[in-house]
Amino acid sequence: MRKPLLFANWKLNGDRAALSSWLSYMQPHLSATDKTDVVLLPSYVLLSSVGQWADSLEGAQLNFSWGGQNVSDQNTGAYSGEVSATQLRDVGCTYTLVGHSERRHVYGEDNRAVSLRLKCALEGGLIPVLCVGETQQQRESGMTEEVLKEQLSTAIESTSKLSGTDLVLAYEPVWAIGSGVAATAEQAQNAHSYLRNIWAASNAGDADALRIVYGGSVNAANAGEFVACADVDGLLVGSASLDASEFASIYACFN
Ligand code: PGA
Repeated sequence: MRKPLLFANWKLNGDRAALSSWLSYMQPHLSATDKTDVVLLPSYVLLSSVGQWADSLEGAQLNFSWGGQNVSDQNTGAYSGEVSATQLRDVGCTYTLVGHSERRHVYGEDNRAVSLRLKCALEGGLIPVLCVGETQQQRESGMTEEVLKEQLSTAIESTSKLSGTDLVLAYEPVWAIGSGVAATAEQAQNAHSYLRNIWAASNAGDADALRIVYGGSVNAANAGEFVACADVDGLLVGSASLDASEFASIYACFN
């Protein structure tokens, strides 16, 4: 059985005060059950505060971890503005996003750049969350599967053979991110099952263990439809994750 994953992607939002109230609100929910892994992806500058908060709980067992929203394709050196996998590990990160749509479309990271970052994440001991997804135009021209296949296969072509637990895939159609128009559960299920098949057919193994999460305008009202899909193993939530009570309602859909 694949354990569901629920990501809160804060993007360029939040500060220490917001983090502190969000964590206080979520804490009783997180300790209640072990059915779902919750992962907070705040701004880099907040990551060590998350670690300090977790340390202050003195061993309380929470289904909670944290990660970066991106990772450098370099390990160390003269690369101003970059944050390495080792540095993310140093502040307790387990995961990092790689190839988020905003990195691809706003900051010009192409499939090759994404593959280098993915490799550094894996080598640095992080679990990369590889984000893939088609634009509206690509969907309308019937290219969705071709785009997903290209994004996935290029990202993993220079890694050694991967197992299904080495990384997480996030299907995030570009047109659904931040638009208020989520994919339908059927569109998500079709894309997820396609991605699982591609994974099985590639050099990568253990497709049954691979967790594939959906992201794009998820909120408390629509989360349950995705959770019910056979190949949707969790959610990557952006704007609705900033509000702790809405995020807790999304979390409740898994339990
Ligand atoms: P959204 O963002 O939930 O605000 O659409 C999702 C994401 O980009 O991770």
